[in-house]
Amino acid sequence: MSGGGDGTALAGFLDFEPPTEDFREAVLQGLAERQKRIPAKFFYDDRGSRLFDRICEQPEYYPTRAELEILENERERLRALLPAEASVIEFGAGAAQKIRLLVEALVTPRCYVPIDISRQFLLHSAEGFARDHPELPTAAVCADFTLAVDLDPVVPEGPRVGFFPGSTIGNLTPDEAVGFLKSAARTLGEGGFLVVGVDLRKDPARLEAAYDDAAGVTAAFNLNLLRRINRELGGGFELDGFAHKALYDRDEGRIEMHLESLREQRVRIAGETFAFARGETIHTENSYKYELDGFQALAKRGGFRPALALTDAESLFSVHVLAVA
Ligand code: TRP
Repeated sequence: MSGGGDGTALAGFLDFEPPTEDFREAVLQGLAERQKRIPAKFFYDDRGSRLFDRICEQPEYYPTRAELEILENERERLRALLPAEASVIEFGAGAAQKIRLLVEALVTPRCYVPIDISRQFLLHSAEGFARDHPELPTAAVCADFTLAVDLDPVVPEGPRVGFFPGSTIGNLTPDEAVGFLKSAARTLGEGGFLVVGVDLRKDPARLEAAYDDAAGVTAAFNLNLLRRINRELGGGFELDGFAHKALYDRDEGRIEMHLESLREQRVRIAGETFAFARGETIHTENSYKYELDGFQALAKRGGFRPALALTDAESLFSVHVLAVA
């Protein structure tokens, strides 16, 4: 750990030096499988992160606006339920607008602590937050938040409120989500709470539109993976040979994003050749949707007691408050 010395506005920095998965290895391995796939975390290079910000502004992509609406309208109920003096722990970093709303909903926040595996992005967004909130100590923790994290070196004693917005929990399988919740319960400890954003099941047409906006931003975001492979791994993808596809699977309750090969083709990547049949896809992302009670059942398996479930006016999205059981 290092203090806020070296010119940063941070009250602390804790680095667990989490191993990062190798892009080359993940791509070569994922494209060798029968259902070709690339892990979704590789979406977020510079261009991908910028495209993702633009997705959140598209008229079809309702989750961001609905979640902000809930946090804004329900601050009194959040304030009544959450501990008056709490340390705020964000799983993932950089939901700037949303964390501001949560922090403002609390009576007396003690500190703000984002946990993220991407060191550079973490420090950038934590320092930005610290500059904007000089009265609130901010400490950054570089770690894999799907595992339990010992925050004692940077977080004062007292209750902890975790925050996991954006329905990022929906990008995990239900079993992975239970694993994450168990770790989060340990990280937050006795008396802790988790405030988590969860997208709701709804009309498939509405869901599919949210992941395939008319302006083509989500398509560009998905296809950016192939660009990244071309640039960083010397790949030979022809970008006009693939199309973005978003499909809702009712049985699984999830949106699947794929890149579909528009013709039979061979692509060379890092010295290896991969064959694509026409219509064959690369699976790039899942986004699970839940009913309120379905998510509460999952939360119980993960070691939490559901305390409150909030929705927006149209019941598109939910924010759950869970208490460490
Ligand atoms: N977790 C959000 C969701 O599933 C955001 C997200 C992740 C996303 N990957 C995405 C949104 C790809 C659109 C496209 O909705």
